[in-house]
Amino acid sequence: METVYQQKSRIFDFVMNIVQQIQSPIKTEMELFEKKFHKSMTTKVALLNRITYYIVNRKGKQMRPMFVFLVAKMVGEGEVNERTYRGASVIELIHTATLVHDDVVDDSNKRRGFFSLNALWKNKIAVLVGDYLLAKGLLLSIDNGDFDLLRIISVAVREMSEGELLQIEKARRLDITEEIYYEIIRQKTATLIAACCGLGAASVQPDNAELIEKMRKFGEVIGMAFQIKDDLFDYTDGPIGKPTGIDIKEKKMTLPLIYALNTSDAKERKWLINSVKNHNEDKRRVKEVIAFVKEKGGLEYATTKMIAYQQEALQILNQFPESPYKDSLVTMVNYVIERKK
Ligand code: IPE
Ligand code: IPE
Ligand code: MG
Ligand code: MG
Repeated sequence: METVYQQKSRIFDFVMNIVQQIQSPIKTEMELFEKKFHKSMTTKVALLNRITYYIVNRKGKQMRPMFVFLVAKMVGEGEVNERTYRGASVIELIHTATLVHDDVVDDSNKRRGFFSLNALWKNKIAVLVGDYLLAKGLLLSIDNGDFDLLRIISVAVREMSEGELLQIEKARRLDITEEIYYEIIRQKTATLIAACCGLGAASVQPDNAELIEKMRKFGEVIGMAFQIKDDLFDYTDGPIGKPTGIDIKEKKMTLPLIYALNTSDAKERKWLINSVKNHNEDKRRVKEVIAFVKEKGGLEYATTKMIAYQQEALQILNQFPESPYKDSLVTMVNYVIERKK
């Protein structure tokens, strides 16, 4: 029998191998990116420096900068430029800011396998640090005159806030539909990955509007698959570096639950809604809801939808000639739905 430690390290090795494989054609870019990203966070305020130090030492999967560089190299004949680097830094800064804020909004105490900022420094500081990172990101574009990239990024920032607010509204009224679910995840998650891919293309081919739009769309569909996967994680109890089983507690109804609702009779529906509305803090009841959703085939349904988005992304990639960058993007698209964290 495998120990928990062995299991964890096996999963870690598996994830590392795939990530290394994806990164191999952008190795130099990712290394230089890390230095630049690190530098973009430094400040004169001691407390802030302590916190940004904490953040950069617990980095995530860095999938967004990877998308930026791979797309840029695929459509830019293997070349990137300073705009590409700045774009990648801005996106990762904004992504980090939204996670810091998201953990306040979701009252979550764990992120990337360790304590979230709000858990360590309280909400006040987390809110201010998130704002600071957002401003740093936007200024990085402005100071260098990357206004075309700034437009792409600002649209994403606005949509992310809209998506989060729509999600809160639906959690209050508990009247979410499958269609609205897709709109929420498009706004809160897919839009930033769409921005990564649009921006990667725009950084090297600023005048090719058609290409930029095609890559934006590619990012959007894979971003949809990415969030459905994230929502599926909430129904598992694997070691993914952040709490699971908290969506129902937060009254967040995601695709597996929506499917269960849609396939339930009136009595079951009433029980489900009542559970989410009035018993969302009751661990035993939440477990019952999770079991019910599984019984109804909610996880399979969400998986099918996730795969449909993945296929759409692969179809877009198919329109490009073979290259190591395209290969990596294909691997990455598959990794999005197969990843273990
Ligand atoms: C988490 O994104 C937030 C979602 C959009 C689900 P990631 O899973 O890419 O987070 P990190 O950067 O790897 O921690
Ligand atoms: C995704 O929201 C994070 C953002 C897009 C801001 P979630 O609340 O679903 O993500 P996790 O699970 O905390 O990373
Ligand atoms: Mg959230
Ligand atoms: Mg959250």
